[in-house]
Amino acid sequence: MKIRGLLYAVVLIMGASSSAAETLLQRGDYLVNGIVACGNCHTPQTPTGPAPGMEMAGQFLVEEKGLFKAFAPNITQDKKTGIGGWTDQQIITAIREGKRPDGTIIGPPMPIGLYRGLSDRDVRAIVAYLRQVKPVNNEMEKSTYQIPLPPAYGPPVTNVPDIPQTDKIAYGAYLAGPAGHCIECHTPFVKGRPDFANQLGAGGFPFHGPWGVSVSANITPMPMALPIMATLNWPRSYAPASDRTAPG
Ligand code: HEC
Ligand code: HEC
Repeated sequence: MKIRGLLYAVVLIMGASSSAAETLLQRGDYLVNGIVACGNCHTPQTPTGPAPGMEMAGQFLVEEKGLFKAFAPNITQDKKTGIGGWTDQQIITAIREGKRPDGTIIGPPMPIGLYRGLSDRDVRAIVAYLRQVKPVNNEMEKSTYQIPLPPAYGPPVTNVPDIPQTDKIAYGAYLAGPAGHCIECHTPFVKGRPDFANQLGAGGFPFHGPWGVSVSANITPMPMALPIMATLNWPRSYAPASDRTAPG
């Protein structure tokens, strides 16, 4: 009987895992190691890829002469040099509002203007993922900005609903915008900010790294991309989420 009970339990578990909805952590893993790619900035990169054992441990990112020198901080669970001591809500506020627990503002190139549109569930999924990243003790230098940072990127972000995946166009725009921030890299910067108003997706932003310099390509010729972005009133100038027409 015992064995039968055990088998029954195994069958139940297998059934549950294949049919149950994705867990928060699975969703976070998919996002962070897929389209959202926080590690592109926050994990030290080497000529052969991400530095082993250093996931999210921070790196020197980019210097825009006369504008800023940005370091992506250590966002591992290390309590001293990372964000292990922050609450879930504090991490969510940092991601979607660009505000740290001490009230200071996170500067570019972290794509806060787009992250404002991350859904409540997705941002919680990202936090769930970050919680299980290995703590790494790695003290990072602080960024310096010659350009003024805004006092805030907009009003507090609350209640951003999920975009239904069945609505392929709206969900695609969500992936390319708030989640994948494609247009952040693919739009030239003017005065330290992407020029969404005039050059959305036009490319031309240089990335310096161990690979040399790679310049983001012009991805505007995709015939439908820009009209779709326009109808969704995508953040052309860091528009607060509440000013946007809800897609879908
Ligand atoms: C394009 C590069 C880039 C991407 C992508 C990016 N960040 Fe950042 N992030 C930065 C930079 C640069 C800073 C620091 C800016 C400053 O010094 O003001 C920062 C700051 C932070 C901070 C504040 C940490 C601290 O100790 O001050 C957190 C938390 C954070 N990012 C989390 C994330 C998460 C989570 C993601 C993915 C959803 C992400 N970032 C994606 C560049 C990036
Ligand atoms: C971190 C910055 C960054 C992000 C984010 C980014 N890209 Fe790119 N992308 C680049 C760079 C840099 C190149 C050029 C690389 C090269 O020259 O080999 C490029 C190249 C491309 C190309 C090739 C174009 C051509 O003509 O060769 C396409 C298409 C593209 N990106 C689409 C996207 C899409 C879609 C997304 C969002 C899912 C995205 N990119 C997100 C930086 C970025």
